[in-house]
Amino acid sequence: MTRILMVCLGNICRSPLAHGILASKLPTDHFYVDSAGTANYHVGDSPDHRSIAVAKNNGIDISAQRGRQFQVSDFDTFDYIYVMDPSNFENVVKLARNTNDIVKVKLILEMDDSITEKRVPDPYYGDLSDFEYVYELLEGVCTKISQSLIDN
Ligand code: 4NP
Repeated sequence: MTRILMVCLGNICRSPLAHGILASKLPTDHFYVDSAGTANYHVGDSPDHRSIAVAKNNGIDISAQRGRQFQVSDFDTFDYIYVMDPSNFENVVKLARNTNDIVKVKLILEMDDSITEKRVPDPYYGDLSDFEYVYELLEGVCTKISQSLIDN
């Protein structure tokens, strides 16, 4: 089983979308996908209603996800940890115990050479179009990630 964790700040906007999109592209018998936030603001919460709506418009149901905070044991549980922006990267790497932990952490958009943008912008204070933009970015990169995981 290969385990992949998507991480953002609150675990209600970006990482739930990344989680739902990647999970939709991978067979569940060989891959486990989850998400977490570096902050504890939204532990136990459903994803933001705008993330739920944008996912639903694209045929993906993320409404059953619940927010949780990233924990040090996630470095043991997961093979790949994809963060949405450099600030998430810093927050996760701060918790790393060794280089083995650090090498698991990647800025998600660096997995797609065709995207020049390096951060998935936080849409929390934006409107639905910001969530749609986040969805498009994540859809593109999750296609690349799923292809490389399945090929390996
Ligand atoms: P996310 O967005 O990191 O993509 O889930 C945010 C959600 C909530 C907050 C910040 C960012 N907040 O400050 O509550």
